[in-house]
Amino acid sequence: MEFEHKVVVITGASSGIGAACAVEFAKLSAKLSLISRNKDKLTKVGDQCQKINGLKPMIIIADISVEEDVNRIVEETINHFGKIDILVNNAGTCVMGKTQNGIEAFDRVMGTNVRGTFLLTDKIIPHLIKSKGNIVNISSILSTKPLSSMTAYCISKAALDMFTQCVALELGPKGVRVNSVNPGAIKTNLFVSAGLSKQENDEIFQFYEKVAPLQKIAKVEDVANIVVFLASDRAKCVTGSKYVVDCGAIIAEGLLN
Ligand SMILES: NC(=O)c1ccc[n+]([C@@H]2O[C@H](COP(=O)([O-])OP(=O)(O)OC[C@H]3O[C@@H](n4cnc5c(N)ncnc54)[C@H](OP(=O)(O)O)[C@@H]3O)[C@@H](O)[C@H]2O)c1
Repeated sequence: MEFEHKVVVITGASSGIGAACAVEFAKLSAKLSLISRNKDKLTKVGDQCQKINGLKPMIIIADISVEEDVNRIVEETINHFGKIDILVNNAGTCVMGKTQNGIEAFDRVMGTNVRGTFLLTDKIIPHLIKSKGNIVNISSILSTKPLSSMTAYCISKAALDMFTQCVALELGPKGVRVNSVNPGAIKTNLFVSAGLSKQENDEIFQFYEKVAPLQKIAKVEDVANIVVFLASDRAKCVTGSKYVVDCGAIIAEGLLN
């Protein structure tokens, strides 16, 4: 897999799955445009990538739920690199809660996971058509497995799966592929940022380790490897697909409700 002349935009690259994607693409000599809201954390990931391949990634501090920020992501990346080949829509947020949690929490989750992803994709599409590039969206196994404790999050990921398929249908004739990677539970900051205590967070991972047929949980690198595969020419006949990376959890008996 060769990304030497490819420009890859990764949202949510300051931690977890997005940071692991940045590192894996850096190992394959990609030119990176890394996006998140936290300058210090994003700069550290950028430095780590530069140590790997000697190329300085573009660091863009931006909130994908804000339209002016999204415009800036596209403008600054194009001004710097001249093109975009791959978009990894990874930035995402989660809130714990059922329907009584208030509309603000719903708006926050949908504003980033769906609206922000839609906005950025919409503005990058003309560049992907020019480069015959591709998109990888980071969804979740919760796009098809309802959890009453994460209603807004589940809705957002179900919407993202449909977004993947609609855009794949639209852009296929223009030579642009669109796929999603749907991870199971992965050890990152996501659920603690959503308000879980460390103990509750640990319990989730222990549960999935026990219930998954492979009796383990995937790591951020396992997700990043599938992202890189889908973004590469090895997946040139794959579009509109959903790649589940969950050690089999979704097919297990007794998954949480
Ligand atoms: N961990 C899991 O178990 C799991 C399972 C399935 C799917 N996923 C999905 O994987 C993706 C990455 O999550 P993660 O697990 O790696 O969690 P994470 O470590 O919390 O990463 C989330 C990333 O998204 C960024 N982000 C959040 N809101 C943003 C916004 N409005 N604008 C720009 N960047 C934003 C965060 O950066 P800043 O805070 O610096 O902005 C951070 O880099 C998410 O889409 C998540 O839904 C995770």
